[in-house]
Amino acid sequence: MAASESTASTRVRAGGAVVRKARLQDAVNIFELVNSLSGDGTLLRRSYADICENVRDFAVAESESGIFLGCGALHLYGPHLAEVRSIVVKPEAKGQGAGGRILLALLEEAEEQGVASVCMFTRIPDYFFHFGFRLADRTTLPDKIYKDCQACPRLYACDEVAMVRGPLPRIAVLGPTRIAQPELVKLQVGHIAHLVEDESEGAGAIVPKGSTER
Ligand SMILES: CC(C)(COP(=O)(O)OP(=O)(O)OC[C@H]1O[C@@H](n2cnc3c(N)ncnc32)[C@H](O)[C@@H]1OP(=O)(O)O)[C@@H](O)C(=O)NCCC(=O)NCCS
Repeated sequence: MAASESTASTRVRAGGAVVRKARLQDAVNIFELVNSLSGDGTLLRRSYADICENVRDFAVAESESGIFLGCGALHLYGPHLAEVRSIVVKPEAKGQGAGGRILLALLEEAEEQGVASVCMFTRIPDYFFHFGFRLADRTTLPDKIYKDCQACPRLYACDEVAMVRGPLPRIAVLGPTRIAQPELVKLQVGHIAHLVEDESEGAGAIVPKGSTER
């Protein structure tokens, strides 16, 4: 379904809010707003570093005078799936169409990227029904599970529903994370034998054996 075909287009009221791609300078506003609603589980907590690193995923809404009103992000798993996340509008800006505009901008971006399947996890499915999302079984979205759910403290007490817009993804690119082998350089035994402690270099200094022969 094209974003422009969404029934939501009729819900987005005319207003002054403008939606644009986020810039790094928006990261503090995004960080504060998203995390203001992470305590009660409405939104997934995001670190400032995470937001900076992924700031290009975000769209922000601002008033005509440039006041930050809200944000949302589109995470790309691959051509098979994208996810709307961290969508939120400041309390004083709610109900004026900013949330709808952000969502439509994210859906348009998915379309531009050629991604037909867009998912999200939410407590307020009623809002997203209007934008063409439908309820889905979360097991059909293993990428989301492996990306976020596995490490979430609410894994076994999750009160969010999974939603999808467009076809269900047929593939997944993420899987269980194995404990990685420590990425230490393995020293060759022969190499260690060539190292000796050189007291003249200071306590405990290890230098190649050849370099002590003066
Ligand atoms: C959800 C949210 C982003 C919507 O933003 P918004 O700018 O207020 O929404 P819009 O102005 O585009 O749309 C308003 C319409 O959505 C409806 N709506 C708002 N919240 C809703 C909800 N929780 N459930 C159902 N409908 C809802 C309003 O009743 C209104 O309908 P109307 O046009 O018929 O009056 C905003 O309410 C918000 O920030 N909520 C807290 C964060 C959150 O829950 N985010 C979603 C996490 S997945």
